Amino acid sequence: MSEPEFRTIFEPFRIHSVEPMRSTTRQYRRQALSTAGYNLFQVDAQDVLIDLLTDSGTGAMSRDQWAALQHGDESYAGSPSFYLFRDAVQSLFPFTHVIPTHQGRAAERILFSVIGGPGKIIPNNTHFDTTRANIEFTGATAIDLVIPEASDPQADLPFKGNMDLEALDSLLATRADDVPAVVVTITNNSGGGQPVSLANLRAVRRLCDAYGKPLFIDACRFAENAWFIREREEGQNSRSVTDIVREIASLADGMTMSAKKDPMGNIGGWLALNDDDLAQRCRDLLILTEGFPTYGGLAGRDLEALAQGLSEAVDHTYLHYRIRSTAYVGDALRDAGIPVLSPTGGHAVYIDARAMLPHIDPLAYPGQSLALALYEMGGVRTCEIGTAMFGRQPDGSERPAALDLVRLAIPRRTYTQSHMDYVIEVCRKVAAEASELPGYRITREPATLRHFTAVFEPLPR
Ligand code: F0G
Repeated sequence: MSEPEFRTIFEPFRIHSVEPMRSTTRQYRRQALSTAGYNLFQVDAQDVLIDLLTDSGTGAMSRDQWAALQHGDESYAGSPSFYLFRDAVQSLFPFTHVIPTHQGRAAERILFSVIGGPGKIIPNNTHFDTTRANIEFTGATAIDLVIPEASDPQADLPFKGNMDLEALDSLLATRADDVPAVVVTITNNSGGGQPVSLANLRAVRRLCDAYGKPLFIDACRFAENAWFIREREEGQNSRSVTDIVREIASLADGMTMSAKKDPMGNIGGWLALNDDDLAQRCRDLLILTEGFPTYGGLAGRDLEALAQGLSEAVDHTYLHYRIRSTAYVGDALRDAGIPVLSPTGGHAVYIDARAMLPHIDPLAYPGQSLALALYEMGGVRTCEIGTAMFGRQPDGSERPAALDLVRLAIPRRTYTQSHMDYVIEVCRKVAAEASELPGYRITREPATLRHFTAVFEPLPR
């Protein structure tokens, strides 16, 4: 007798420990927004009902991760927790040197402090905000070379995170001396959580070889990217995610990592690479600001939790649920006529705020307006990824970002399908009032990464 088949894809876990949620009124939230300078990063988490601000560090750890914490050895130097962590990283990414950091941007700061600097150019499919900021902070230039179709929110391509190979080739042909490394971000977060294909990574590798350049991957969402490769790329469907991840690693010379994403950590990151000399220089900087190289700013217990989390991140049942449950939200919003970036990404659904709020000029931040409305309507916190985040240029001028998106990032293993049904309902209600939403202007902003602390004000309608 054959096994019966079921269509329902359920959360592949039972709930073992629960956290309370707190409801507030629309009037209360309107006041909270005004107090927060219309910046959702400045809203207190306890005033948020469903927090889709980020999938970073906000996931639920498993029973086995909590148990692993008890094994943490807090020795300053040579902790066994470090070796366990290093081995878990190397089982997927067999780079010679594994350097723990407290989170991804610390790995970025260290790497780019060493290889960046004035006059240098660092290409990526799309730099994440902290990556770009850390590169620019050294005086180097960060450039995005994702395929042109990525700027069309409706272009339904399987690997919309791919690097534009021609553009990379022409950059290297003209400026090779100024390019210390090429970076590929998997999945491409700022471009909609879109994956990069193995074929594209192999081609980037060939270009790097041709010009003698190292290739680094920004691998925060490596497992989701590998699942998409398994699902979508020809000839990959019978491979395990682990096997695909190892091939990705074999194509690179190193990686930066935020372990707050796919590795299921609440904190953590690493820099891994093969070059002995570069690793030495990075470790010297690590000691200056992060800590000794066997803990790098993390507690031994964090290293243990990450080692365990890495083994859970590549589980096929988990990844099937993860990608499918994100697509569930994307499909429902699309069915409601809300313009959603297609295809739906791995860790998040991105609403095309510029298309949803055509009456708001990009320089009046339609993404910010939509994100604020979702919070006010239903206590759902999301994140603008658009002109508020990327519009300010290094020379201080302002220009529209490529897209004005609102990201609904889904924390791992944290919310259930009924939570997501509520989110969908909130989005529908906001869509019904979309034409009444105001634009915004910035009244105060810092010099870098302004979206975290800028103060906004609604424009008169
Ligand atoms: N690279 C990518 C692609 C990221 O998405 C992030 C963080 C980082 C690097 C930096 O890692 O936060 O550990 O320092 N992204 C989070 C987000 C913050 O919300 O997408 P970090």
